[in-house]
Amino acid sequence: MCGIVGYVGPRDCSDVLVSALQKLEYRGYDSAGIAVFDENDAITTVKTEGKLQNLKDKLQIVGKPNGHVGIGHTRWATHGEPSDVNSHPHSGARVTIVHNGIIENYQEIKSFLVGKGREFLSETDTEVVAQLLDFYYDGNPIATIDKVMGEVVGSFALGIMFKDFPDRVFAVRRESPLIVGVADGEAFIASDVPAILQYTKDYYLLEHDEIATLTNDGVSFVDKYLNPIEKELKTADWDQEAAEKGGYPHFMIKEINEQPEAIRTTIMPRIKDNLPNLEECGITLEMLKGFKSVTIVACGTAMHAGMVGKYVIEDLARIPVNVDIASEFRYRNPIVGDGDLVIIISQSGETADSLAALRLAKQKGAKILAIVNAKGSSIAREADMLIYTLAGPEIAVASTKAYITQISVMYLFAFELALANETISVAECQQLTESLQKMPEAVKYVIDNTNEVCKKIGSKLITADSLLYIGRGLDYALSMEGSLKLKEVSYIHSESYAAGELKHGTISLIEDGMPVIAVATQTDLIEKTISNVVEVKSRGANVILVCTEACEQKMKEGIANYKVVIPNTHELLMPITAVVPLQILAYYTAIHKGNDPDQPRNLAKSVTVE
Ligand code: G6P
Repeated sequence: MCGIVGYVGPRDCSDVLVSALQKLEYRGYDSAGIAVFDENDAITTVKTEGKLQNLKDKLQIVGKPNGHVGIGHTRWATHGEPSDVNSHPHSGARVTIVHNGIIENYQEIKSFLVGKGREFLSETDTEVVAQLLDFYYDGNPIATIDKVMGEVVGSFALGIMFKDFPDRVFAVRRESPLIVGVADGEAFIASDVPAILQYTKDYYLLEHDEIATLTNDGVSFVDKYLNPIEKELKTADWDQEAAEKGGYPHFMIKEINEQPEAIRTTIMPRIKDNLPNLEECGITLEMLKGFKSVTIVACGTAMHAGMVGKYVIEDLARIPVNVDIASEFRYRNPIVGDGDLVIIISQSGETADSLAALRLAKQKGAKILAIVNAKGSSIAREADMLIYTLAGPEIAVASTKAYITQISVMYLFAFELALANETISVAECQQLTESLQKMPEAVKYVIDNTNEVCKKIGSKLITADSLLYIGRGLDYALSMEGSLKLKEVSYIHSESYAAGELKHGTISLIEDGMPVIAVATQTDLIEKTISNVVEVKSRGANVILVCTEACEQKMKEGIANYKVVIPNTHELLMPITAVVPLQILAYYTAIHKGNDPDQPRNLAKSVTVE
């Protein structure tokens, strides 16, 4: 999704903007640009389609604007194809802006402005806002912004410069995230904290419809009634190093390697005397008693973490669990209400569909638990109960360490829920929790011992047009994530199927040499899974088996073309270790294909529009 930055201060503004935009590259983008007040107090805009390197090249050719106040943007195209002219910043005669989000009524506003004789250069909804600001501008920036806010519908974060005010940047947001960073004599705006960590850890969270004014004397805020307000200064607990590659070639493999630590950091403060203890998150056993149902709502990888949650909660707490895709849930008049628990899982805490699902479920009277990685994000703030995954910044678009911490939290929560509802004994719960505490070590072992074999298998997969992931029970939930990971970064089509469902259609796809990745970690299902593996093998599939030592022993020699064998742990917890080879396999397949695994084509890290 689009990334916004802005700067006011003594440094070279163009350099700060480009460098801050670089830290937002992970969000996904297809063009970039900056606008800076130059030494003559005129706004110079430089923008181009493509990666930031194109912008840097262009800045070299046309000359970097010299100044100390400016805004910058990486664009992920929504309205209008990626092109120089559609790139941000966009301007009206006296206003220049950058925008993240979608203006839903832009056609209407555009027709109005065209009727007033205005002409447009681009196809974007953003230019409409720039022109509307210019249309209403009466010498008072805050009043003008307020007037426009009253007319636009949709989600947006805006960085704004008025030609008459060359010493300041204005910022406003509705739904889309925006933070305001501060340091001595300088101020920043950014879509996300990593953009400013190289300069400061201190920031304010801009709330809906608040307007910020940044000058080098400091930052001031007004609320939606234009009353001046004081805001709480926050300090980021992520440092710059955590948001950099630290010697790894890509963020994706760095983040895979960070998983043992991420699990440890996430679970340990929530365990006491070998039992889950969520009091640190303000959640007591009492609060978890008597829910009629659980609905887990999320998107992408977070939804797959929910699939694991379903198996575990149903198994341990004996409460029916639905898992829903947020974009479906929000438009389906879902059956949730008083006495139901809705769990929203989100790395960014800003995914538009997940946030809308949260609000809908809340409005229907359900209790909301959010499992979120980004501190202070919208989903975190609007939930009734909150458990942070403490994965640190996840920069690669394909989620790895966020997923593993999401499922780790799902386990802890399921243990606590089962304990609260007395469907497991304290002793059983202690045994499960002890096993969970061993997972960081187990994950480390699997990373160290499956890297080479996955690298080799990845080199064989690059010629495949399509492949299947199969599994049963928790292994099916896991296959979904394995398949998504591969698709995201290797661009090879794959599907995950419940192994027992293959016969009902999908097996017709199997032909000579088609790779099938079978996940087998559950001994009670192994005989069934073996039958399915034999069925695909005898139809010519190349079988790649990801299995535990215990399951391997049950397999006949020669059943698989390749095997990735991982140690046994508690079987309910197997997704935590078994996901690792699937992630590594996806990573190396992308590398062998020459793809950039950190910024896969067409994808965005944080999807803040529908
Ligand atoms: C995007 C990302 C995925 C992520 C999904 C949900 O599609 O590319 O990696 O799983 O959004 O994001 P969230 O921040 O809500 O977990």
